[in-house]
Amino acid sequence: MKAIILSGGKGTRLRPLTYTGAKQLVPVANKPILWYGIESIVAAGITEIGIIISPETGGEVESKTGNGDRFGAKITYLKQDQPLGLAHAVKVAQSFLGDSPFVMYLGDNLVQSELDQFIDKFKSQHLDALTLLSEVENPSAFGVAKVDDRGNVLQLIEKPKNPPSNLALVGVYLFSTEIHQAIANIQPSPRGELEITDAIQYLIDQKQKVASFQLSGWWLDTGKKDDLLAANQIILDTCLETTHEGTIDKESKVSGRVHVGTDSLIKNSMIRGPVTIGKNCKIENCFIGPYSSIADDTTLIDVDIEHSVVLKGATIEGINSRIVDSLIGERAHLKAAPKRPKALRFMIGDDSQIELS
Ligand code: TTP
Repeated sequence: MKAIILSGGKGTRLRPLTYTGAKQLVPVANKPILWYGIESIVAAGITEIGIIISPETGGEVESKTGNGDRFGAKITYLKQDQPLGLAHAVKVAQSFLGDSPFVMYLGDNLVQSELDQFIDKFKSQHLDALTLLSEVENPSAFGVAKVDDRGNVLQLIEKPKNPPSNLALVGVYLFSTEIHQAIANIQPSPRGELEITDAIQYLIDQKQKVASFQLSGWWLDTGKKDDLLAANQIILDTCLETTHEGTIDKESKVSGRVHVGTDSLIKNSMIRGPVTIGKNCKIENCFIGPYSSIADDTTLIDVDIEHSVVLKGATIEGINSRIVDSLIGERAHLKAAPKRPKALRFMIGDDSQIELS
C-alpha cells in the first residue's frame, strides 16, 4: 500500500497567515500539521509516500520536510500546477501510485485514531473506497454521507442545504485502483474542481464496494484559526512531555507539563503548562499560561499570554493585558500599550508590525 498527502491548494481560510507560507506547515504544538499525517502513515507501516505540492508553496514544504529519512519513509513530491480539486490531485499522483491501493490524507487534517483499523477493514472487506466519517453539529459546512445500517455509503453530498445525516467526511480516505477509472469519468463541479465526492459517488453508482468507518476519537480540519487553536490544545493535552533543555533562572516558576527547547532562556517568568517553547527563545518577565505554543527564535518580554500560538521569529514586548486565543505570524512584532486595554484578540499575518498606543 502507498499513501498520498495533499499539501497543495490555496489555503484562503487561514489568510493572511498563508499568503506567504503553506497552511500545512503551520505548526501545532511547534510541529507542522503535515508531519502528524506523515507520522501516522508511517506508524501504519506505509513508507512510500507522495506529497502533492503547489508551485507557490511546494518549495517550502519540500525543503522543510525532506526526503523522508527523518520519518523512516521515502517521500516523492508531486507538483499540481493548479488546485483543481482533490480528485485532480489523485490524477496528478496516478503514475506514482501505479497499481497500488492507497491512503489519501489531506495535509491540513489531524486525526487522532491509528490508521491500522481502517486499513484492516479496507483489506478484509476488499473495498474500493473507505471513507472516514465523524458526527458534526453543522453538516451543511462539510461533505456529508448517507449510510445504511451496515456502514455502506449510499450517497455523498458536498455541503448540502438539507443534510441527510450529521456524518461529515473526514480528510482520510482509502482507495483501490478503481478510483482512477472513476476520476476519468467525472466532470468539474460548478466551482471548477474535480471533486473526490463525485468520484466516490461514481463508484457507488457503478455498484463498487464503498464503506465507511465512523470515528470516535477527535478529528480536526485545521483550516481556520479557531480550529488550529483547538488542535494545539488537544495535542498539548495528549502528547506533550516535560523536558527542560534550555535555561530556567531561579526567579522563574514552571509548573505542569512544559517543554523548553535548547538555547532558550526563561528569566523571571511564570509558565503554567501545558506549554511548549521552541529553541533559541528569550522569555523575560512573562506569564505564559496553558495551551500556548511558542515557536523557535521568538522573544517575549513583559508579556502575559495564554491559549495562543506564536510562530517562529516573532517578538512581543510590553503587552501586559492578557493575550488570549491568538495566532501570531512569523517574524511579527508587537510592542507596548502604555495604558492597559481590557482584552486583546489577534490574528496577525507574517511580517506584520503592530504598535499599540
Ligand atoms: P481544501 O481545504 O479543500 O482547499 P484549500 O487548501 O484550497 O483551502 P481553502 O478552503 O482554505 O482555500 O484542501 C484540503 C487539502 O487538500 C489541503 O491540504 C490542500 C489540499 N489540496 C490540494 O493539494 N490540491 C487541490 O487541488 C485542493 C483543492 C486541495
